[in-house]
Amino acid sequence: MSSFIGKTLVITGAGRRAGLGEGIAQKFASMGANVVIGDIGKTQGEQFPEHGVATASEMELLAQDLEKLGPGKMRSFTCDVRVESEVEALIAYAVKECGSVDILINNAGIGYLMSPIVDTKEENWDAVLDVNLKGTFLVTKHAARQMIAQGRGGRIINIASQAAKSGFPHAAAYVSSKHALIGFTRTASIEMGAHGITVNAVCPNHVTTGLGAWQNTYFSELLGMTHDEYMAAMASRIPLGRPGKPSDVANACAFLASEEAEYITGEPMNVSGGEETH
Ligand SMILES: NC(=O)c1ccc[n+]([C@@H]2O[C@H](COP(=O)([O-])OP(=O)(O)OC[C@H]3O[C@@H](n4cnc5c(N)ncnc54)[C@H](O)[C@@H]3O)[C@@H](O)[C@H]2O)c1
Repeated sequence: MSSFIGKTLVITGAGRRAGLGEGIAQKFASMGANVVIGDIGKTQGEQFPEHGVATASEMELLAQDLEKLGPGKMRSFTCDVRVESEVEALIAYAVKECGSVDILINNAGIGYLMSPIVDTKEENWDAVLDVNLKGTFLVTKHAARQMIAQGRGGRIINIASQAAKSGFPHAAAYVSSKHALIGFTRTASIEMGAHGITVNAVCPNHVTTGLGAWQNTYFSELLGMTHDEYMAAMASRIPLGRPGKPSDVANACAFLASEEAEYITGEPMNVSGGEETH
């Protein structure tokens, strides 16, 4: 696959250890890209608790570790994807530090606010939709403006989910936001094709790190199973026999961002070991 030397990746929500974002950032760093991580960097009320969001120091350390993997510049920038002025500042920072924005991966997402619909607080619904959907819109808007101005195309990849295609209990806001991301991806791919910008989504099944680890604990407790029993039941539903890893998602992103994928756009690609068949 072609390398990303001389290209800059902006990736949101990659500030936490062991998250999908870290795995994706590592892959692109090792393939030569400059990597700019945008993440919220601080807790904020009950919707953004310590177990759910990256701290600014965690982001900085993660960016420093990326420097060991490749020749590119590795940077982190505090940005709440719900706030347009902060999103504009993220894109401007990437251009100032690295000279361009060539690849955007919208990875920031929250999925830990779980409850049945009848018990879901309006503030929790809004927080999930605001990060997962509005955040993707805002970062796409400003990154795409930059790509269009650069005049040499680009790649946008939205990290959706199996929950973009199937329903899951206790996750109505999350599932709704991820389904909507597919519609957003398809629309953006049509608008941006003329500029040589492809827009795709990746739909991972359950990855056992990051948000996935938190959900495993939530559901095993809810179902009265041990963690091991819950994980064994999950693996038994997956044709390839294991849950996903961050590297599975990272490999799919690297392909979609490569020159080899230049004719693929508007595609919600499953990375689910065969679990998701839609
Ligand atoms: N882990 C899984 O099983 C799984 C499966 C399918 C899809 N996903 C998706 O992958 C993406 C990454 O999730 P993860 O599992 O690695 O979890 P994670 O918690 O490690 O990553 C989510 C990141 O989003 C950041 N974030 C939250 N609110 C933000 C905001 N307002 N502005 C900027 N950043 C914000 C957090 O700080 C965190 O770093 C999410 O979009 C998630 O929905 C995860």
